[in-house]
Amino acid sequence: MLQKLTGLLTKRPRNAGVAPRDDGARLALPEKLPRHVGIIMDGNGRWAQNRGLPRSAGHAAGTEALRDIIQACDDWGIYALSIYAFSTENWARPKDEVGTLMGLILRYFQSEIDELDAKGAVIRIIGDVDGLPDKQRDVVNRAMERTRDNDGLRLNIALNYGGHAELTRAARRLAARCVAGEMKPEDIAEADVENELYTAGLPPVDLLIRTSGEIRTSNFLPWQAAYAEMVFNPILWPDYNREVFLRDLHEYASRDRRFGGVKKEEGQ
Ligand code: IPE
Ligand code: IPE
Ligand code: MG
Repeated sequence: MLQKLTGLLTKRPRNAGVAPRDDGARLALPEKLPRHVGIIMDGNGRWAQNRGLPRSAGHAAGTEALRDIIQACDDWGIYALSIYAFSTENWARPKDEVGTLMGLILRYFQSEIDELDAKGAVIRIIGDVDGLPDKQRDVVNRAMERTRDNDGLRLNIALNYGGHAELTRAARRLAARCVAGEMKPEDIAEADVENELYTAGLPPVDLLIRTSGEIRTSNFLPWQAAYAEMVFNPILWPDYNREVFLRDLHEYASRDRRFGGVKKEEGQ
């Protein structure tokens, strides 16, 4: 497999456009790449269950898949990657599973931050950071602070994130500005709403991938992914890797995005 992938390991400049074609025996990068990829990393529990392991083993294996995909995004020059790591609804899981996930989040940041920073990743936590336990809040705040001036992959990690909560927060912030006399309700434009989202300043999600075969978005980036192409991959997240990701990128490249218009050939 390694040999098969060597052609894909060469680092490309960000959004460089056309990817070099190889000899055809391997799958090359498609010419049309998404600028912003969202991933709902689902299926850790089932992966573990299939092996007779505790769910925590699935979550641990999931972080390895994440490493591979972040590296692929970096190698292939994808501008932004948003990953769903813990939702506002995930607090409803058994206490020990929430504890496991929080422990993994802490260890993930402690062990990966040097490498992510060295790659030039800009880490942004999307979600309610203040609602995280103290240690997790501190470690993610330090990671954001440390990488804020980098210029590489925009890596958004959704922690304690919910799309409804995000939009409610945006509404509150805009209402507060109106009450303060900074703006009038009738002047609120779509761009103003966008500026109050955790993803302010980033392009919309072009491709939204969900693993594990569930066909729903579970409150992930409802505004940002409004026009995203969706790929629902049956693979369980710990088994996801750069080869599968590459196939999903080809699926994306084959889609005809119309944004409410007509096909290019028909529109002229
Ligand atoms: C996704 O895997 C990880 C999180 C939600 C944190 P799950 O834990 O949801 O795995 P399944 O869906 O139960 O298999
Ligand atoms: C979505 O997966 C949340 C994350 C991947 C972090 P869930 O497993 O929590 O979603 P549902 O409950 O199946 O919709
Ligand atoms: Mg799940």
